Amino acid sequence: SLSNKKTRTIGLMVPDIMNPFFPELARAVEDVMQLYGYTTILCNSDEKAEKEKQYVQVLEQKYIEGLILVSSALSPEEVNRFEVPVVAIDRTIASEKVPTVTVNNREGAQQAVRFLLDRGYRKIAHLRGPSQLLNAEERCRGYLDIVEKLDWFHPGLIVSGDYEMKQGAKATEELIQKHPDVDAIFAANDLMAIGAIRTVQKLGLPIPEKMAVVGYDGIGIGGMILPELTTMAQPIYDMGALAARMLIRMIEKHSLDSMHHEVQVQLIERGTTRR
Ligand code: RIB
Repeated sequence: SLSNKKTRTIGLMVPDIMNPFFPELARAVEDVMQLYGYTTILCNSDEKAEKEKQYVQVLEQKYIEGLILVSSALSPEEVNRFEVPVVAIDRTIASEKVPTVTVNNREGAQQAVRFLLDRGYRKIAHLRGPSQLLNAEERCRGYLDIVEKLDWFHPGLIVSGDYEMKQGAKATEELIQKHPDVDAIFAANDLMAIGAIRTVQKLGLPIPEKMAVVGYDGIGIGGMILPELTTMAQPIYDMGALAARMLIRMIEKHSLDSMHHEVQVQLIERGTTRR
């Protein structure tokens, strides 16, 4: 059968190779895999279900021995029928059989919003991630947990986005037009936060005095722009390395000490928020 053939090859599916979050993750997976003598085939689904399914078929034809998935679209049934071990990172599959590595997205978001309130910001908007993604929903939930009961809260302060820079910039433009008194933006990822910064600067609003921006992820570029981005960092490299080690244990038929690993987020305070 397929699974008896030893190719020492694994697949890694990422949703967006243009987002620096994923090269960092891929680097970690590759490092660990190489250490153990495995080759990693990288597939980029572009957040498209069809591309993702096609790649899964191609990977099966190449007799991969395992798969690390950052999936946008596969259903639990589709994942359950894979013949080889699967580990999901970041975007969980609603299947008990699939081990996962994630952060607590809701708590991370709560922490980010509480931080903004502590720094004296008074009207915080949220740039939401893609509607179909659970992690985006959880980050939005976390935002709502903190602000929903505050007197200034308005549902229009949540603007939907797609985890991309352009959309972050555009959404921020619309947001500021409709709600000129917003003084802080919590973006569901760093790329949207960077887009937001561009718009805020174009409008001539000083950051962090008149407007704060907080992202989510902790990608390297956030520390290189000006002002440097305050963000809720995920341990991206560690998540990839951990998932890779879990997958190798499964391929080599060892047991896992835990099916679901929740790793810690960490607020990195930088120039886009007041001290
Ligand atoms: O940056 C894009 C998002 O995709 C990240 O926040 C990460 O959680 C992944 O799902």
